[in-house]
Amino acid sequence: MIADILPPRLAVVEAFGDLADVTLYPDEEAAVANAVETRRREFATGRACARAALAQLGQESVPIVPGVRGAPRWPAGIVGSITHCSGYRASAVARDHDFMAIGLDAEPHYELPRGVLEAVASRGEQAELATLAAARPYACWDRILFSAKESVYKAWFPLTGTWLGFEDAYIDFGRRDGFFCARLLVQGPVVNGAALTTLHGRWLIARGLVTTAIVIPRDP
Ligand SMILES: CC(C)(COP(=O)(O)OP(=O)(O)OC[C@H]1O[C@@H](n2cnc3c(N)ncnc32)[C@H](O)[C@@H]1OP(=O)(O)O)[C@@H](O)C(=O)NCCC(=O)NCCS
Repeated sequence: MIADILPPRLAVVEAFGDLADVTLYPDEEAAVANAVETRRREFATGRACARAALAQLGQESVPIVPGVRGAPRWPAGIVGSITHCSGYRASAVARDHDFMAIGLDAEPHYELPRGVLEAVASRGEQAELATLAAARPYACWDRILFSAKESVYKAWFPLTGTWLGFEDAYIDFGRRDGFFCARLLVQGPVVNGAALTTLHGRWLIARGLVTTAIVIPRDP
């Protein structure tokens, strides 16, 4: 499913439930030693997806340990992302000579809980979502925006190692379903010789889920 919004040079593996008997490496096991069972299972299935995706790139099985602020530590030469939500887990990986960063996110396709939109969207974004909801009512635009911002953060963080708040990017959906731009409202990292100002993303609604993806190619 999520492969539909990703370029072909990425390796992608997804699962619509938890896989049984995933073997974790000791450092991975330690990362979820005190976690509840549902968290252990989503973490393990995310690792299984990531390792299967790495295998598609010819990479051997390695531990993928949570690093700084929870970002997965990928093997040298690899960039990637992991997401999970109820009933869905996915990972995409690529060689770092093809892509500089990947951000994936999955969410259930229903409205955000009351009060969340105001916390994650600016007044301008909220006004735009209201217009979109009136014109294209088949999508939960608040949830897509939320997911888009999570994808932005997952691509941003490995590039910068710094926090990016919900107020630090403006999501513009444009006219075409399935696409969005995230305009950075803070100084972006230098990418391909210029400061990154806009991240280009895709979104998809399928099987009761919203998935979003950002990829930053090595060459523009
Ligand atoms: C980190 C965050 C984006 C995770 O999103 P989520 O919807 O809660 O959870 P998901 O299941 O989709 O993703 C979780 C996975 O993201 C990855 N992840 C966690 N922190 C990360 C980081 N700092 N950078 C990149 N990836 C990260 C991990 O692989 C994690 O799974 P794992 O712990 O099993 O390995 C979210 O919790 C968060 O902190 N958001 C606030 C920052 C933000 O979104 N800013 C908006 C900028 S416009």
